[in-house]
Amino acid sequence: MEGSTAPEAKATVLRVAAISGSLRRGSANTGLIRAAKEICEESIPGLIIDHVDISDLPLLNTDLEVDGGFPPAVESFRAKVRAADCFLFASPEYNYSISGPLKNALDWGSRPPNCWADRAAAILSASGGSGGSRSQYHIRQVGVFLDIHFINKPEAFIKAHQPPKKFDSDGNLIDRETKEQLRKILLSLQAFALRLQSKPANSEQAT
Ligand SMILES: Cc1cc2nc3c(=O)[nH]c(=O)nc-3n(C[C@H](O)[C@H](O)[C@H](O)COP(=O)(O)O)c2cc1C
Repeated sequence: MEGSTAPEAKATVLRVAAISGSLRRGSANTGLIRAAKEICEESIPGLIIDHVDISDLPLLNTDLEVDGGFPPAVESFRAKVRAADCFLFASPEYNYSISGPLKNALDWGSRPPNCWADRAAAILSASGGSGGSRSQYHIRQVGVFLDIHFINKPEAFIKAHQPPKKFDSDGNLIDRETKEQLRKILLSLQAFALRLQSKPANSEQAT
């Protein structure tokens, strides 16, 4: 209202660290992260997707930890995980389980002090015939020990190679129905992350 002295209401902004479990050029899972970023920019105010690249992480080896420090790529990764309000994992299933690169990243982030704890997360998987369901439940199992809190619903098990065509040859998501599925997951993640932070959506943010 004009002339009102009431402070302007500000929406809470959440930053999402989004991690792809596939290092492949043209990965459908990395494509899901790009699509999530676009969806948030277009239609989900207050949710910002930051793609955290894990391709330069060395394989977990605790000998690389010196005087409590980590190799530079690991330090940088851990800082990004610590700074995030919540997480989005998009990963293929490999041999009925978590992809090696994602497990490696989860393990580096778990080294003391654990960087993952007490944040909300959602999981997407673009995979073969299973849609990645088995890998998603393995990620949830690992997340129990890391103290990550996953949204339960909705779930998305995307059969990347079955019709209708969902990704182009660069891994870009082109299927409208899958985009809508993704949007619902992002909204659920936003609502749950805000609940976890005990801040009602779109309320005035305490400074
Ligand atoms: C080593 C390996 C193992 C795989 N195992 C499975 C599996 O157990 N279940 C499944 O649904 N797809 C499996 N796939 C297929 C991938 O999940 C699928 O091709 C996925 O789209 C790859 O993700 P990307 O496009 O993000 O790289 C496997 C692929 C590879 C390379």
